[in-house]
Amino acid sequence: MAIRDILIHPDARLKTVAEPVADPGGMAALADDMLETMYHAPGIGLAAPQVGVLKRMLVMDCVKEEDAPPRPMVLLNPKIVWSSEETNVYEEGCLSIPEIYYDVERPAEVEVTWTALDGSEQSERFDGLWATCVQHEIDHLDGKLFIDYLKPLKRQMITRKMQKLKREKARA
Ligand code: NI
Repeated sequence: MAIRDILIHPDARLKTVAEPVADPGGMAALADDMLETMYHAPGIGLAAPQVGVLKRMLVMDCVKEEDAPPRPMVLLNPKIVWSSEETNVYEEGCLSIPEIYYDVERPAEVEVTWTALDGSEQSERFDGLWATCVQHEIDHLDGKLFIDYLKPLKRQMITRKMQKLKREKARA
């Protein structure tokens, strides 16, 4: 297992629609790396494009309770097949947009289907933080970031901040 570098916005790869995974069994090593990278960050979700792999694959673990067992999930080719009319607002962040947090409104519940690493078809209804997280990560697979839900001026301000951060990192 290895910790991978997480791409920081702006990056063309974060704006690209990712390709479907054709070979679920071949993704196990990447899934391990992505989970390790996510837990190390620390974060609750990570999409493959964030580590520069333009495949429809995400990992997440939204267990909040300190003493609860972890629930690492790996979703290949995830699809939202149902969304509730009821919405929820969460203050979202993103490992590709460090230290920026804004409220985003999304459906409160979603039903998602996906392929597991063993090739089996899975389906689950998510609510609460899990619902927000899975929608945020699926957006990544479509080249969409949570700041795309904000007003253009706010988005530009954040993008400039990230450009500055990247320049500073490159110099360090
Ligand atoms: Ni994100």
